[in-house]
Amino acid sequence: MITSKELREKWLSFYESKGHVNIGAVSLIGDGSTGVMFNVAGMQPLMPYLLGQPHPAGKRLCNVQGCVRTVDIESVGDASHFTFFEMMGNWSLGDYFKKEKTAWTFELLTKVFGLKAEKICSTVFAGNESAPRDEETAGLLKQLGIKPEHIFYLDKSNNWWELEGTVGTPCGPDNEWFYPITDEECGREHCDINCECGRYVEIGNDVYMQYKKTADGYEPLENKNVDTGFGLDRMLAFLNGLTDGYKTDLFSGAIEYLEKASGKAYDAGGADRKAMRIIADHTRTAVMLIGDVNGIVPSNTGAGYILRRLMRRAIRYCKALGIQSTQMLNVAKIFIEEVYGEAYPLLPKKEEYILQEFAREIERFESTLEKGMKEFEKTIAGIQRKNEFMAKQDPAYVAEQSIGGKAAFKLYDTYGFPLELTVEMAAERGYAVDEAGFAEAFKEHQEKSHAVAEGQFKGGLADTGTATTRLHTATHLLNAALKAVLSPDVNQKGSNITPERLRFDFNFPRPMTEEEIRAVENLVNEKIAENIPVVFAEMAYDAAREQGIVGVFDSKYGDVVKTYSIGNFSREMCGGPHAASTGELGHFKIVKEQSSASGIRRIKAILE
Ligand code: ALA
Repeated sequence: MITSKELREKWLSFYESKGHVNIGAVSLIGDGSTGVMFNVAGMQPLMPYLLGQPHPAGKRLCNVQGCVRTVDIESVGDASHFTFFEMMGNWSLGDYFKKEKTAWTFELLTKVFGLKAEKICSTVFAGNESAPRDEETAGLLKQLGIKPEHIFYLDKSNNWWELEGTVGTPCGPDNEWFYPITDEECGREHCDINCECGRYVEIGNDVYMQYKKTADGYEPLENKNVDTGFGLDRMLAFLNGLTDGYKTDLFSGAIEYLEKASGKAYDAGGADRKAMRIIADHTRTAVMLIGDVNGIVPSNTGAGYILRRLMRRAIRYCKALGIQSTQMLNVAKIFIEEVYGEAYPLLPKKEEYILQEFAREIERFESTLEKGMKEFEKTIAGIQRKNEFMAKQDPAYVAEQSIGGKAAFKLYDTYGFPLELTVEMAAERGYAVDEAGFAEAFKEHQEKSHAVAEGQFKGGLADTGTATTRLHTATHLLNAALKAVLSPDVNQKGSNITPERLRFDFNFPRPMTEEEIRAVENLVNEKIAENIPVVFAEMAYDAAREQGIVGVFDSKYGDVVKTYSIGNFSREMCGGPHAASTGELGHFKIVKEQSSASGIRRIKAILE
């Protein structure tokens, strides 16, 4: 039995003994320079150095770097896919090359981890118009004692490593290492690394990064680099003879908790095991993303949206498993306190904050989830009814198999269902989703919101000067007062200001009572009486979100946003302009509270 902690240490000390410097890990959140949202590979932060810039720590580096890959999110639930994993890496920046690298990987596998040379299999690049067949690596492997029949030449789709969708990034042919998890062949004719039985596990790869990707091909780099990556999660399972990555010490605590909480057995397999894996994996990734040095919070754009998708998918699977979604907090605690606290000391420091963000997202989604599920069922039932009816009318009628874009948008906009969640739920029932129609509905909605925003901030300002400015500041106070009096889940859904009055739409399921209306009015007037200064600041969108500043209109991830704060009472992203302090506003009065659309209330108010 080898633990995750021992594996990290063994990796680092082996490469340190070969002259490498442990450079530690960097943030999981990409810096945006390559267009990749998260850190997806250990080499990503080292790109400038692989391209030739000298690294301050020298030419031989190693580390264990967290990575987030969400492209395979749908595959999470099986035994080996994770959205977060740690990559054990080492690099030569124009220093040693194939001879040393093949020898060291071989030494690590056979001497440190005790694998048998005669069982190791290896794949090398078969060659194409961009780069030659890698006879050099194959020759070195044979010299080390790897059987010639265990060396396979594969094409670019297998043995070439690059960051997909990028240009100007280092890349090259790679040498992948395989080992059989059992000696027993499956019975197929060639039970080798290509066999579909999966007897051979890929344990890692050495990339010979000697090319730069250009817009239409590859050009040689001055430096010949090595970029090694061995996935810790998979390696840990493999070294412990496990075919299930969720049985390692990284997950055993979380799974044990989920078993206890649900009263279900993981080993019984089926839907419950899948749910446990998804909850555990997504919770771990969410902990890492929120607890990162550049931590993010769930939102509707960019990286925050991916985080939201992970969390909401996990919440849905909590329901499927029959546990409360708040029990995810205990799973998060296990990762923070028992599994990763030592290797990632920032996590315990940010524990309270991480758990609070979990609780908030759970509360936000729970408040609409049940109604959203009903809406989803209604939509499916509607399609089924239509199909049955039409089939009776016309035997040649082709049944509708897809949820419309508008319906999917309603689930997203009103009930907070990420599109991907709707797609997944629909697929479980045998339906598709009209994603193009969703995109159209989304765009239409955004155009409407922006028209309102512009009418409010630009047109309103030019035409009417400070009458609208005071009403605009009153709108912020109203927004905060509604949250305080009714629920923190109340959010602005629309706003319009004329010189005479403000109009404010927000989500709330029922008419406000007379008392609630008075309480909101009183609170706004209290804040006016306090004559609080309205403070303007510009900051990065995610920094604003992290501070809990409310955003009404979508802002692109990474954008700098303008924010206005009224003491601790109201903090919003907004284009302004505003009154200098609340004392300028006069007396606030709600003149009407009415329905605007299903689940949306509308307030009209004036300043006297
Ligand atoms: N960059 C290589 C990988 O991520 C090592 O697999």
